[in-house]
Amino acid sequence: MDLPLIDWNEIWRKQQPRTFDEERNRSYWNKRAKTFSRPENVSPYVDRFLNLLQPEPHWRVLDVGCAAGTLAVPLASRVCQVTGLDISPHMLAGLQETCRAQNIQNIRPVEASWNDDWQSLGIEPHEVVIASRSVIVPDLRQAIVKLNRFATSKVCISIPVGTGPFDPLLLRAIGRPCRCGADYICVVNLLYQMGLRASLNFITYEEESGYQDEAEAFRAHQRRLGELTADEEQALRQYLRTGYIRRDDRWQRAEPLRVSWAVLDWSPVPEAPDRLP
Ligand SMILES: C[S@@+](CC[C@H](N)C(=O)[O-])C[C@H]1O[C@@H](n2cnc3c(N)ncnc32)[C@H](O)[C@@H]1O
Repeated sequence: MDLPLIDWNEIWRKQQPRTFDEERNRSYWNKRAKTFSRPENVSPYVDRFLNLLQPEPHWRVLDVGCAAGTLAVPLASRVCQVTGLDISPHMLAGLQETCRAQNIQNIRPVEASWNDDWQSLGIEPHEVVIASRSVIVPDLRQAIVKLNRFATSKVCISIPVGTGPFDPLLLRAIGRPCRCGADYICVVNLLYQMGLRASLNFITYEEESGYQDEAEAFRAHQRRLGELTADEEQALRQYLRTGYIRRDDRWQRAEPLRVSWAVLDWSPVPEAPDRLP
């Protein structure tokens, strides 16, 4: 088999779980904004990502899919400026709330999508562009080209390994496809085909936040899974009854869930040669 001829972008596109309707996507993330990565449920992921990034004080960082500032907020005290770009106005409202509460002056929120013309929104190239857990695009190649165009010295992204933050047993229980395989490996290969030599690291941890009770666990999974059919809802309730237990006074998965993210960083080449025909 001629390896350079494999179309990794197409494999990526076929494996994407959601339709890429901008409105639905925005509404999905708006609904998750109240609880997503708020201080009370920050995971070990943040410190590990920042350790790999090694921020420098002179950097201006463009944080694509910044949410309510999971990384933008801790980055703000370590770099000179952060531009936080996100499709969800509710996420950005959370970010602004935190900036006000903590008197953070060097984060500029921009409501925009991967698809928008960033330049026309006043976004210029930054030393570093990050897209952490936010490469939510059908066209991976186009996204990589865009990241390269807006970074002068480094691009750093994280991509799920296997099902990433999703519980594969839960997905199976409710009858949704459990997409393992076409994950970060598409990105590694596509970058290679585009002539970009990325460093690869992994962040792996056990999800241990847990929930107050079964009802809270149900609501959290419902938010993450998006709209559920009646059958899926019933299967989710059943799964939570059998797959979860009370531990340390929290409602937790019987077997802690290991979550793994691949972190890839590279030096941008604006017109990276592509070996695909
Ligand atoms: C899983 S969160 C990751 C947030 C943060 N970067 C982190 O690592 O915690 C994904 C974020 O990407 C944003 N997002 C999803 N689709 C997007 C799009 N098409 N354009 C811009 N942002 C998008 C969501 O609103 C959400 O805030």
